[in-house]
Amino acid sequence: MEFDLKQRGRASMHFLSDLAVATGPLRKQVDADMLARGLDESTLADDLDERLLQVDAALADSPAAAALAMLGEYSGVNHGRVAAAAFAEIEAELLPRLKALEQGPTTIEPLPGEARPDYFDRAWIHRTTGGWDGHPYQGFVHGELIHRHYVARNYPGDIYAQRREILSVLPRRDYRKIFEIGTSSGNYTLQIARTFPEAELWGCDPSPRMLEHAQRIANENELRWRLFVGSGEKTGFESEGFDLVTSYIVLHEIPAEATKAQLREAFRLLRPNGDVLFTDVTRYAALDKKGVRWAEYTAVNGGEPFWREAASLDLAAAAREAGFVDVRSEGFRGGIYPWFVYGRKPA
Ligand SMILES: C[S@@+](CC[C@H](N)C(=O)[O-])C[C@H]1O[C@@H](n2cnc3c(N)ncnc32)[C@H](O)[C@@H]1O
Repeated sequence: MEFDLKQRGRASMHFLSDLAVATGPLRKQVDADMLARGLDESTLADDLDERLLQVDAALADSPAAAALAMLGEYSGVNHGRVAAAAFAEIEAELLPRLKALEQGPTTIEPLPGEARPDYFDRAWIHRTTGGWDGHPYQGFVHGELIHRHYVARNYPGDIYAQRREILSVLPRRDYRKIFEIGTSSGNYTLQIARTFPEAELWGCDPSPRMLEHAQRIANENELRWRLFVGSGEKTGFESEGFDLVTSYIVLHEIPAEATKAQLREAFRLLRPNGDVLFTDVTRYAALDKKGVRWAEYTAVNGGEPFWREAASLDLAAAAREAGFVDVRSEGFRGGIYPWFVYGRKPA
């Protein structure tokens, strides 16, 4: 969506995202401080909990570690508040447009299955005030403001390109009906729709506020999606109705058992020969000990309670257990991020 922020809102969003860039040199200094204190791959503890304590103790007198912790805390607490304040400045002029975009070909309805998994309200993911439904226009606030004026400024190039390009790992172009789990504000959904314009597209998410923005995005682009408020583990849909079940960066926000349940549900929903493609964050098995410690640091301080169990899950084994064949679990294009698991339901 095109819109202009007021000067104060734009400046405060950009201040926060520039602050994130500014922490880059501090991270390098923390790495150097670790080395200076004798912490490297040979001395870092094998056990992760022990390693976290070991690093914290060693960095207790590191000014760079203290500064990084302070700036991270400031961003964690404030990014949602700053985005909400930037929205408040333009709310009056924006609301008629947002309301109008709720009318159109894309619909939102309750999922026949589970509305909201019990873990969903256990934490405010990303430490965003109130979580995914914490603001009446959270879909706009997260999808447009936090994504475009905060996250995207820290990504070189097109932040949505990976969502589009990951679809190239799929072996088919003839999907007739696609189901997306964790539609949120529709960032991945839009790329799926553009890549497979002939396919019927359904999506689910337990957050009504996020789906409302996906609906606006779809209507603005004259796209006809069926969106359902509910959980990807238990959809309640009939079996074998889809050719592709897919998700993008959802798995690190749910327990490992929920990922396994979503793979089983995907298998049930797929027609024979149908494909599953779930994309998520780097697996801990692909990182060295220092890399895992940094991932944990970012997850714990960034409001990601399920990241460790998610990143530790063997996705290939989970996909095979669900019944999939031709399974691939690997970093995209030989890298380590994003990480995807692909599988095919046998004919
Ligand atoms: C990081 S966002 C995903 C973003 C989106 N797929 C994209 O590419 O931008 C994670 C989304 O997963 C949703 N979610 C969490 N648990 C879920 C579940 N059990 N079933 C479906 N969606 C879920 C959250 O509400 C949130 O909107």
